[in-house]
Amino acid sequence: MKVLLTGANGMLGRDMTKLFQQKGFEVTLTDIYNLDITDKNAVISKISEDKPDIVIHCAAYTNVDGAQADKETAFLVNGAGTENLAIATAQKAIPIVYISTDYVFDGTKNSPYVPDDKVAPINVYGDSKLAGEVAVKKHNNKHYICRTSWLYGHQGKNFVETMIQLGTTRDELKVVADQVGCPTWTVDLAKAVLHLIESKMPYGIFHTCGAGNTSWYGFAKKIFELEKINVNLLPCNTEDFPRPANRPRYSIMDNENLCQDWEKALEGYLSLRKEVITK
Ligand SMILES: NC(=O)c1ccc[n+]([C@@H]2O[C@H](COP(=O)([O-])OP(=O)(O)OC[C@H]3O[C@@H](n4cnc5c(N)ncnc54)[C@H](OP(=O)(O)O)[C@@H]3O)[C@@H](O)[C@H]2O)c1
Repeated sequence: MKVLLTGANGMLGRDMTKLFQQKGFEVTLTDIYNLDITDKNAVISKISEDKPDIVIHCAAYTNVDGAQADKETAFLVNGAGTENLAIATAQKAIPIVYISTDYVFDGTKNSPYVPDDKVAPINVYGDSKLAGEVAVKKHNNKHYICRTSWLYGHQGKNFVETMIQLGTTRDELKVVADQVGCPTWTVDLAKAVLHLIESKMPYGIFHTCGAGNTSWYGFAKKIFELEKINVNLLPCNTEDFPRPANRPRYSIMDNENLCQDWEKALEGYLSLRKEVITK
């Protein structure tokens, strides 16, 4: 089976590549250097020449705070770029996997979000990713829309690495305790996507995030505990760290067992971390 990946150089793209290659898929790697998804003609040509059996679309404009000031680029990449892929795949009757986000929700619910819940983004990034979802649904009914959250992987800048760096260089650290969500390891997300494809799940929207939930403070606490880092960790509120983009306070999604528990995942990530870093 042949898979075409967008965003193959990104944090998720690299683990997606590794897993699908290990499982014997023929993987065509694309990223901005060889396929700019905002170039509609290039996207249509690439899909018709490469003839993949499925497209896994990981490319995105992912700078959440940057998007507030650069709405145009966020919508160009996440909205129009995704629409180009949706059109190109639909023309050839190829299914598409679109990686989306918990930021399509406003965070006002108080029980886990399910795929049919009302979407109402509260920042530009969430809006632009939602535009991608709308485009995928409009053009290609063979779709898996996989919403994920609080993503971390060995090949990218992420919360776990930031905490380890700060925890080992500071005596005291304040971390936001009033935002809750589901940390997700890129490896688990890649496995969930593989499962959807291999088990021929009916097309639709899925919440592919770690099981269970925590706050950013709880996440940091667990990282320090597992890494045996001694730092005075203090909970704080969102208001203590004003950022350009609003974040949903409540980002917990019901993952229907598509990914393992977030604490187990973190243990897995940390146990492999040194190996990856020293390579
Ligand atoms: N990170 C999270 O916490 C999180 C949470 C929820 C959902 N997601 C979603 O998960 C997916 C993967 O995220 P990630 O963290 O792995 O992102 P990432 O590391 O930023 O990777 C995205 C990749 O897309 C590439 N790209 C940007 N613009 C492009 C374009 N016009 N054409 C082709 N490629 C382009 C980027 O290249 P450059 O680096 O050169 O720009 C990068 O290699 C995204 O869809 C994201 O929205 C992420």
